[in-house]
Amino acid sequence: MKLEQYQEAIEKSNIVSKTDLNGIITFVNDEFCKISGFKREELIGQNHNIVRHPDVPKEVFENLWRTIKSKKTYVSTVKNRAKDGTTFYVNTTVIPMLNEEGEIEEYIAIRYDVTKTIELTEKLRAKEEELENLNATLEERVKKQTFELWALNQTLENRIKEEVEKNRDKDRVMFQQSRLASMGEMMGNIAHQWRQPLSELGIILYKIKKIFKKSIEENSEEEFLESYENAKQVIKKMSDTIEDFRNFFNPHRPKEIFLIEDVLHEAMVMMLGTLKKYEIKVDIQTDENIKIKGYASEFSQVLINLLNNSKDAFNKKSLENRIIEIKIKKFDKSYAMITFKDNAGGIDEEILDKIFEPYFTTKHASLGTGLGLYMSRMIIQNSMKGTIEAKNCENGVCFYIKIPMYAKEEITDE
Ligand SMILES: Nc1ncnc2c1ncn2[C@@H]1O[C@H](COP(=O)(O)OP(=O)(O)OP(=O)(O)O)[C@@H](O)[C@H]1O
Ligand SMILES: [Mg+2]
Repeated sequence: MKLEQYQEAIEKSNIVSKTDLNGIITFVNDEFCKISGFKREELIGQNHNIVRHPDVPKEVFENLWRTIKSKKTYVSTVKNRAKDGTTFYVNTTVIPMLNEEGEIEEYIAIRYDVTKTIELTEKLRAKEEELENLNATLEERVKKQTFELWALNQTLENRIKEEVEKNRDKDRVMFQQSRLASMGEMMGNIAHQWRQPLSELGIILYKIKKIFKKSIEENSEEEFLESYENAKQVIKKMSDTIEDFRNFFNPHRPKEIFLIEDVLHEAMVMMLGTLKKYEIKVDIQTDENIKIKGYASEFSQVLINLLNNSKDAFNKKSLENRIIEIKIKKFDKSYAMITFKDNAGGIDEEILDKIFEPYFTTKHASLGTGLGLYMSRMIIQNSMKGTIEAKNCENGVCFYIKIPMYAKEEITDE
């Protein structure tokens, strides 16, 4: 009785089948029918391999048969195929049943369904694999991208270097062009400035000739010496002028500390001819002792550019009562502010923001290259670390130049 109950308990809770010695099905329980999808009549009398899955290698079955034929219990998870072709997994125990003589009478297989677990494990493995692959390609991709980025960076760096170099060359050329343009202007100024001392020299020489004649009759040595001194002074003045211009065009100089006022006066001296010729009055107001560091000659070139621009503007409009006001003041404790203002009518608002661009000019090609203000801004920004801006004000243009003053404490050895 107990044995029957056991049997019932097993049959209710498991998937059970029995075969004869040849593997022909002799018994299946309801659970077996359910999981395999076959009806009982379809199973009984059939070979048990009716649920065999083609994926399972034949060695597995050989091993199964070897085990059970030797009266041992076979335990394994088996992949099976249902009637409709779906796969199911069962944890299988096959037990050979022996008769009283100890010979195999039949085989009984008890299984339970592990399809869900196997499927989940499969899925998990697949995901893991996917993840692993992803990881590997990710690493590859990161490596590749890093390399690409590095390469890009490299070429970018080179390109920037090239561009900077090109720009530097362009600036050098422009600087030269601009210098050449002002050189022409300067030649005119030298000629103008020499005209007066040369005629003075002529007069002195004439005087000397007369004194020489007179000296034969009376003692006039003193008179002669005075004329001689005068002549020497005139010659000195002329050579100073040349010296000023020479310094102006000398490109190889160290940075220097200079008084803004001094350079303004130098520039004024160089422009004296032009200013006189075009009847331009320059009104100067300066705070004393404002020192800045840079190239005095470059700075005077800026002032000369501004003066020349005003001169051109005055001429274009044939204005009278021409006045330029230049103010040099301390600003914000550590800056020098130079305000340059003319009354030559100003600049059209539409072009005001273009005047500092290279080659921008409203003048005839023979009169302007359009580099003056561009170079001026380069000088102020790069050599003197300052700024230069322009605005229309009252009857003309106002230029504001702001430059850091030279402070003694400062150690700037660039
Ligand atoms: N004081 C000013 N009044 C009126 N317009 C001005 C004045 N200064 C500059 N400009 C305008 O700005 C333009 C650019 O000036 P910039 O000095 O750069 O070149 P340019 O004088 O034309 O030529 P360059 O100075 O190279 O011989 C001028 O052509 C002119 O139209
Ligand atoms: Mg100019």
